[in-house]
Amino acid sequence: MTQAHAPGKVILFGEHAVVYGRPAIAVPVAQALATATVEGAPPGGGVTILAHDLGEQLVLGQPASERLRGLELVTRRALERLGAATLPDLTIAIRSDIPVASGMGSGAAVSAALVRALAAHLGASLADAEVSALVYEAEVLYHGTPSGIDNTVVSYARPVYFVRGQPIETFAVERPFRLAIAGTGIASPTRMAVGAVRGRWEADRPRYEALFDAIGEVARRGRRAIEGGETAALGPLMDENQALLREIGVSSPELERLIGAAKGAGSPGAKLVGAGMGGNMIALLPAEFEPVLEALRAAGAASLLVSEVR
Ligand code: PMV
Repeated sequence: MTQAHAPGKVILFGEHAVVYGRPAIAVPVAQALATATVEGAPPGGGVTILAHDLGEQLVLGQPASERLRGLELVTRRALERLGAATLPDLTIAIRSDIPVASGMGSGAAVSAALVRALAAHLGASLADAEVSALVYEAEVLYHGTPSGIDNTVVSYARPVYFVRGQPIETFAVERPFRLAIAGTGIASPTRMAVGAVRGRWEADRPRYEALFDAIGEVARRGRRAIEGGETAALGPLMDENQALLREIGVSSPELERLIGAAKGAGSPGAKLVGAGMGGNMIALLPAEFEPVLEALRAAGAASLLVSEVR
């Protein structure tokens, strides 16, 4: 039996603009993990994938449900890459405590855990970049036009400065800081939000290009602040990013309520994460952070976790 994990992620700065070539920063969230377990199966059965959290399963080569098509693709591609000439007999079990459709990269993390477990089971090891490329293929199925940031950060499991089409840059966090990650409880498929933004961009390119430029600049300053240990600069940058996300139309009343509650209880900065229109928000936490968590709970957070970025 072989097991592998991949973390969830949050985008600190730059979601949506990253689809249009601007930089974004994402960090792994080790408190939320996807796990894949691979075991040998009786001869002749081929590959079975058990997605416990979805209550679904699939057998490779048989029709897969919409939700499992990405996993099927990534499994087939990984087996090709690993040089498995014949279909091995395996059972792959997937579990994840990363909330789905919430901007935390759950789909990418599940794919990454699967690829790593499969490689380990077949006695191979894949470079982070190879895992990331395989996971990207599944992301394309799910998201349409993914920027590539999700597969990158969950595969490298390190803070990433990401510009579409450019070599990956990981970077160091000079002074660790803490985030609260709170869920609205409203599922928000990334594809929908990305599609809505695309429609508005097509209708008014100059305005959206300018907003994306401003977001990209916030991401650049965010990286400098994190690398330079200037944690005090982060809160205002998160607020600035949120104001721009609001302008591009991906915030929601539920997100705003959580953001307002966190700020009102002493968080230096807060923003939605990922696709928006639901999903999660993050709040930078001060040293005494219990009041912020309390305020988020009181404002109706459907899920809440604290993550240290280091
Ligand atoms: O919702 P998530 O975490 O999958 O993030 C989506 C981030 C976007 O920038 C909106 C889309 C993308 O592909 O980068």
